[in-house]
Amino acid sequence: MRSRAASIAKMTIGSADAQAAIAPRTTSTYADFLRGLWDDPKAVSAPTPSGRALAHAIAAEVDPHTPGLVVELGAGTGTITSALIERGIREERLILFESVPAFHTLLSRRFSRATVRGADAFRFDRDLPEGARIAAVVSGIPLLNYPMAERICLIERALDRQGPGATFIQLSYGWWPPIPPGMGVRLSRRVIFRNFPPAHVWIYRRSAAKCAQSLGTKAS
Ligand SMILES: C[S@@+](CC[C@H](N)C(=O)[O-])C[C@H]1O[C@@H](n2cnc3c(N)ncnc32)[C@H](O)[C@@H]1O
Repeated sequence: MRSRAASIAKMTIGSADAQAAIAPRTTSTYADFLRGLWDDPKAVSAPTPSGRALAHAIAAEVDPHTPGLVVELGAGTGTITSALIERGIREERLILFESVPAFHTLLSRRFSRATVRGADAFRFDRDLPEGARIAAVVSGIPLLNYPMAERICLIERALDRQGPGATFIQLSYGWWPPIPPGMGVRLSRRVIFRNFPPAHVWIYRRSAAKCAQSLGTKAS
């Protein structure tokens, strides 16, 4: 049943975006999370989904005004996805990668206007719409479980795929960054203690000048 707030907003605002923003959304339960954890514990590699404080700290690093798609790798039950939407990123701009089928099905149900791919996040760039502009890449995949060469490759490709100011945001339970900062890439971090377990948000940003330089190098 439509809530009173939703009915009032429909009457007073009436735009499709406003209605979409307040439409009742399917949530997820801890049982949904446990189902995915049971199916593939190594891929999930966490005792709980990200808490609200952590999800919002990650979403806060994405500028909703940068045009393009926001790519989320390892979206799980969709806690960070919800925070991105609350941040003002329209669901249609989200492309979610999730390898566990139970999570993939849940995400498709919860975020029916987003694009949900049951593909390997390490090959996300093969599954993007042709010529799509990317605003940011957010990752919840347990990068520390993968060899350093694969981590570097993923982060570099994610930054290369974007324009000036490219951003890659990684959730991690480790105290060391998944990769050290490289040439022309700034690394910053936030520690979120209000999460179980406490977590780091690692933010890799490529400066505009270095981005132009690296694109120039590749073209030559
Ligand atoms: C630590 S959980 C994070 C889930 C969710 N983002 C959150 O914050 O609650 C890691 C997620 O990454 C997914 N995952 C791990 N490896 C993946 C891969 N190679 N491709 C796509 N998804 C992957 C897992 O299935 C799981 O949903």
